[in-house]
Amino acid sequence: MLVNMKGMLADAAKGGYAVGGFNFASLESGLGAIRASEELGIPFILEHAPAHEEYCPFDVAAPIMVQLAKAAKTPVAAHLDHGDSVELCLKALKLGFSSVMFDGSALSYEENIEKTAFVCKVAHEFGATVEAELGAMPHNLKGELKEYTPEDFYTRPEEAARFVAETGVDALAISFGTVHGVYKTTPKLSFSVIDEVRKATGDLPLVMHGGSGLSDDDYHEAIAKGIRKINYYTYGAIASGEAVRKYVTGCEGKVMFHDLAVCATNAVCEDVKRVMKLFKPEAA
Ligand code: 13P
Repeated sequence: MLVNMKGMLADAAKGGYAVGGFNFASLESGLGAIRASEELGIPFILEHAPAHEEYCPFDVAAPIMVQLAKAAKTPVAAHLDHGDSVELCLKALKLGFSSVMFDGSALSYEENIEKTAFVCKVAHEFGATVEAELGAMPHNLKGELKEYTPEDFYTRPEEAARFVAETGVDALAISFGTVHGVYKTTPKLSFSVIDEVRKATGDLPLVMHGGSGLSDDDYHEAIAKGIRKINYYTYGAIASGEAVRKYVTGCEGKVMFHDLAVCATNAVCEDVKRVMKLFKPEAA
């Protein structure tokens, strides 16, 4: 059932848990996440990010994602992840997405407010929800992250209050020490940033990006402080990649590509189920 994020994030706030945002970077990642959701009966957010354009282009992925969400037995939001322009957000809405992220974190604070407010106005007319970002996320998608100071990226609570009041966003992605991609060292998260931003924004659902590769304790602490959506991709892709490697290594005779796709889908499903239960412990 295709839904926007509003109800599922409100339920998460009431129940004190987080909803997973899983990336559709290939058909296998989408099918695996849908099956995990249906097997556990847990709603989730299926997302496409411009960073995954080279693996599965948005124009191809979007209609499939909307169809998968509509056909799912559980509530599923079809969401644009890191929409880096107003135009891309509008395109996603016209293609039937129920939710978009406008990522203005590289813009000035004032321009981020102005463009996010515009996207919110249009998206809400479509009945869709909007996530925005304040503070910035370091990237280590291909090992490009050099020395950096996490504090330089943190979301500032005093900026978050005005941002939320002036834009009308439904969820806010914040920076408190997580990184997109592979962690070079054990991540050190600043849970007090979550706490302070939550207090400054009147309990608006807060979003953690770079959500794969953390310890179980980190997830529980972040959720306890107010994180209601966790974006999870890289370490799930590693888990399914390793499952495919094991399958190929143990394969006698010819390797058929469709069997690799099935193996990858099964591995995504198992990994998504594992973290869905971590994000919503009473479902475990
Ligand atoms: P990871 O790939 O680091 O888990 O991050 C996913 C994400 O934040 C997508 O927006």
